[in-house]
Amino acid sequence: MTAADLILHGARLLTLEPLKDERPRVGPAAGDVRAVMDGFVAVRDGAIVATGHGSAHETVERVDGAIDIDVEGRVVMPGFVDPHTHLCYAGERWEEFASRRSGADYLAVLAAGGGIHATVRATRDATDDQLLTLLMRRIGDAAELGTTTIEVKSGYGLEPGEELRQLRLLARAKADAPIDVAVTYLAAHALPTPYTDDRKRFIREATKAVATVVEESLAEAVDAFVEKGVFDVEDVRPLFTAAKKAGLAVTMHADQLNDVGASVFAARTHARSADHVAHASAEGIRALARAEVPAVLLPGSAFFVGYPPPDARRFISARVPVALASDHNPGTSPLEGMPTAIALGVTLCGLTPHEAIVAATINAAHALGRGSRVGALVPGRRADIVVLDTDDERELAYRMGAPLIAEVYSSGRRVA
Ligand code: NIG
Ligand code: FE
Repeated sequence: MTAADLILHGARLLTLEPLKDERPRVGPAAGDVRAVMDGFVAVRDGAIVATGHGSAHETVERVDGAIDIDVEGRVVMPGFVDPHTHLCYAGERWEEFASRRSGADYLAVLAAGGGIHATVRATRDATDDQLLTLLMRRIGDAAELGTTTIEVKSGYGLEPGEELRQLRLLARAKADAPIDVAVTYLAAHALPTPYTDDRKRFIREATKAVATVVEESLAEAVDAFVEKGVFDVEDVRPLFTAAKKAGLAVTMHADQLNDVGASVFAARTHARSADHVAHASAEGIRALARAEVPAVLLPGSAFFVGYPPPDARRFISARVPVALASDHNPGTSPLEGMPTAIALGVTLCGLTPHEAIVAATINAAHALGRGSRVGALVPGRRADIVVLDTDDERELAYRMGAPLIAEVYSSGRRVA
């Protein structure tokens, strides 16, 4: 056995290892979290080299200066994977947040030039340095809360030139971040004013930017807000076709507030994931299951905006892979971290605590195309590990807001 430079032992160890193959967990297996009692995980040069239980850890050689911790029965599990966030923004949306309490409708505010457009104005006005500082702080906050892989979208530039500026800032943030950042070009989030009468021209220009995104390796995926009054399936089809042809993954804000056929479309285009899906039709859910496209549930936005949350049972019983994300953004989901998303996934969407933990780790890794690299504690994978201050992982869902994240390792290095 190779020597270790980090070894955590005496753990209630959740490996979340693949069950039969490298597929996400679905149906009756969606909550399969087997705990190894008195378990250990050994790490060398940022990757996991061994796991096991009992005194077997004593046979693992320690390199000079190795970190060797007896966690005394606490939970050791994979770092969280947050597969959907919008961290690249300036400004907050206090007035909109308050006005919804007196009945303002999210899509009506957007159509009237507020909502996403308000954040676009604030973000355009911010300097590169200001945005970079905000980004790094938000990524650091996520790491403190146990996230070791985070997806971050552009999307508050709207005009392709401004989106590219955000993507270039995201590339700088990714290079300096203490955790893994997966960047997405959110190409069609809302129609910018100069294009009000010509959405086709907007989509053409957003599509043209895909070539630059690929040339400069700025993103792994392309996203769009497919929603009533925003963009419909036919609007975004050429964008997604071009993205796939260029070798990028596609993902979408699908059927968040209305069923617009986006879940069916996501399945047909073999999207990396279909996100929100609160209003997915039965046909959409069957299609996602057949195509094995993960549904990323975003309970934070249902909670903050006050619309009906997605019913996780519909997806679990149809054998759709279910993942959870924070959807952190200033409009619909200003929440921090995956523990809150886990708690809301249980209380609002009807996941069991163990299904929510699967949805925040291995299934979320699948939703980012990283299902064989992170999300599980298995030899060969990145050593992304969280130690919880409890001996029962279900506490993540039960004691909402409790400070349970004791230690976080990203590629074997302690980040929090
Ligand atoms: O995931 N609904 C579209 N996009 C974001 C919200 C963006 C905003 O309101 O600023 C979401 O909910
Ligand atoms: Fe979103």
